[in-house]
Amino acid sequence: MAVIETRDLRKRYKQVEALRGVTLKVEPGEVFGLLGQNGAGKTTLIKILLGIVKFGEGEATLFHHPAGTADVRNRVGYLPEDHRFPEYHSAYSLLDYYGILYGMSKDDRRKKIPELLDQVGLASRMNDKIRTYSKGMKQRTGIAQAIFHDPELIFLDEPTDGVDPVGRREIREIIEDRRKRGATVFVNSHLLGEIEMMCDRVAIMQKGQLIREGTVQELTAQRGVYVIGILERDRFPEFELRQEGFNLREIGDRWEITLTDGQSITPVLELLRAQNLNVVHMIEKKQTLEDIFVSMVEAAEPGVDARRKRRAVERDEYERGRDRRDRR
Ligand SMILES: Nc1ncnc2c1ncn2[C@@H]1O[C@H](COP(=O)(O)OP(=O)(O)OP(=O)(O)O)[C@@H](O)[C@H]1O
Ligand SMILES: [Mg+2]
Repeated sequence: MAVIETRDLRKRYKQVEALRGVTLKVEPGEVFGLLGQNGAGKTTLIKILLGIVKFGEGEATLFHHPAGTADVRNRVGYLPEDHRFPEYHSAYSLLDYYGILYGMSKDDRRKKIPELLDQVGLASRMNDKIRTYSKGMKQRTGIAQAIFHDPELIFLDEPTDGVDPVGRREIREIIEDRRKRGATVFVNSHLLGEIEMMCDRVAIMQKGQLIREGTVQELTAQRGVYVIGILERDRFPEFELRQEGFNLREIGDRWEITLTDGQSITPVLELLRAQNLNVVHMIEKKQTLEDIFVSMVEAAEPGVDARRKRRAVERDEYERGRDRRDRR
């Protein structure tokens, strides 16, 4: 039973078509990541699901209730992007205030608030005014606010925005902890590495549409690209392999083989073996989420990919140099 479900969701703000038919499902206990460039429509989607913004056409439900109905509000936590809490509050008094709204008893609040603020790394500053907090501390306050009432579903819009690397790791741990307690988490981000580390499933949004969706593993496996290196004194059977129809590319002292449909790497290895060549390196290449993301937006923004490829070549060259140094 899906926690979030949308069908062909559309939203238009006057000139801008922010969502152009979004269909997605998020299952209980998942950490779901929505990736997309600035302006892709990520925040709009969250706001629609929470009932903050009205949508045009389509369907949207949370826990099988139409998005925006009051009955599910207590079951949901939300960290808005660019949130601004009243600065006269301290983290403690802010949570205390929310606790009262959620109907928590005084004893409950007294016990829970310091625990939670400790978990987000704010214990030592919890009685200082929010106006004296750094950006990352404000963000941690926001996260504490989003998870305070133990919601079953948590929306985090750019949770690590402005947070230092240690803090980012702490936030990932908090998300993991919530997942362990059974919560479902929906994260918006353009930080690909982050999403790769914390999400079970990812969707990529571009210009209001989901253009890819899957597990991180599914998206990053690049089936059929192998890199093979043989001893320097050996001759790589380039000609023979090309004759067999293999697609080869020489990268320094290594060879990259891209299989086409129906091809297998086995005949390549058999040929190398038959010629008594010594394979010193053999990997199936993986793509990072960033590779995938950039190649998807390339269509919309020519030039991005060319720059990336230049960097990839530089990186390959650097790594080969390092390999050689290691071998010495
Ligand atoms: N209140 C609004 N009025 C008019 N246009 C809006 C409004 N809110 C968002 N938009 C437009 O809708 C599109 C999607 O915006 P949205 O904030 O959902 O993007 P996003 O993916 O969250 O981007 P970011 O990564 O920058 O946060 C953008 O073109 C934006 O300008
Ligand atoms: Mg946004």
